[in-house]
Amino acid sequence: IEPTLTDRFGRHIAYLRLSVTDRCDLRCGYCLPRRFKGFREPGDWLDFAEIVRVVSAFTALGVRHVRLTGGEPLTRRDLPDLAARLAALPGLDDLSISSNCTRMAAFAEPLRRAGVRRLNVSLDSLRPEVFREITGGRLAQVLEGIEAAHQAGLAPIRVNTVVMRGVNDAEIEDILDYCMVRGFTLRLIETMPMGAAGQAAHEHYLDLQTVRQRLERRFSLCPDLLQGGGPARYYRVGGSETRIGFITPISQHFCATCNRVRLTVDGTLLLCLGQEDAYPLRPLLRAGIDEAELIAHLRRAVALKPERHVLRECPARTVRLMSTIGG
Ligand code: GTP
Ligand code: 5AD
Ligand code: SF4
Repeated sequence: IEPTLTDRFGRHIAYLRLSVTDRCDLRCGYCLPRRFKGFREPGDWLDFAEIVRVVSAFTALGVRHVRLTGGEPLTRRDLPDLAARLAALPGLDDLSISSNCTRMAAFAEPLRRAGVRRLNVSLDSLRPEVFREITGGRLAQVLEGIEAAHQAGLAPIRVNTVVMRGVNDAEIEDILDYCMVRGFTLRLIETMPMGAAGQAAHEHYLDLQTVRQRLERRFSLCPDLLQGGGPARYYRVGGSETRIGFITPISQHFCATCNRVRLTVDGTLLLCLGQEDAYPLRPLLRAGIDEAELIAHLRRAVALKPERHVLRECPARTVRLMSTIGG
């Protein structure tokens, strides 16, 4: 087999975002509405063997990087066991996780031993009351989780801050200081209107171009030579080693260089974060298709990848919630 996956626009797909659950122990307003009840039933979840099978087919097609996402991935039972099985797949050389870190104090060591190397953590505020307001959770618990990940040697650690006007936009400098002291990278993210959480995301939208200009009054920001090809545009902060990234899906989208597809917990391939294009794999897997057929399906799915997302509009055009996609 030809070991590459290329879409209609010439983009190479080398990165799979794997949502291992649509559930989460937090309720960030821009991601998961508080009263949401429509979670997938366990019978609809891919089991670990099915996940490994799909990921293995992707690695045969040249996918090198898998990121574990959710919901909150650590709410899926025995996640380190799954991580170890994925890390052992030949060809997979980068296994990472995006987590809210509420449970990281217990899982940092097991994840590290399983072969997870890099962590992206959501941290929208360093003020306990504001943190609770945004997420419904306890800040101290998350900070302990991040500390544990740092101690366990997960690196680099990237802090994801969704910037919300009037909620946490006055704290960005403080969060940057927190990251600089610890050697973490900070990424600021524009809220994307998704599904039923779209209105909440839209109300607090803040254009990150203006935030960058504001930061430049206190820090000098030089475009970093290492950009990494993901959604963030990186700068070095004031001659230090610290990097700050801006993820601007709304004000400056980055779809032309998109290198990724997503697999949901119920085994649906999503071709774009901000479009409904999808390819259900679970019925095929459970109908007993073989390896070659699975690979053919992955190619067909990638051929459906749209040119770009349409996330500007609110009410949101996507029905799906961010929590079911994993970002
Ligand atoms: P690395 O670059 O590997 O560190 O990861 P990442 O930035 O791709 O992953 P992370 O899970 O930390 O996501 C950070 C933010 O980027 C989230 O808000 C995602 O929703 C957003 N994001 C990631 N990929 C895409 C994409 O393809 N399109 C859009 N619009 N946003 C994305
Ligand atoms: N807009 C932008 N980013 C979001 N995330 C979750 N929901 C949204 C949204 N509506 C981010 C979280 C997490 C990452 C995986 O996705 O901050 O860090
Ligand atoms: Fe949970 Fe992350 Fe969504 Fe917050 S952003 S509700 S932590 S999945």
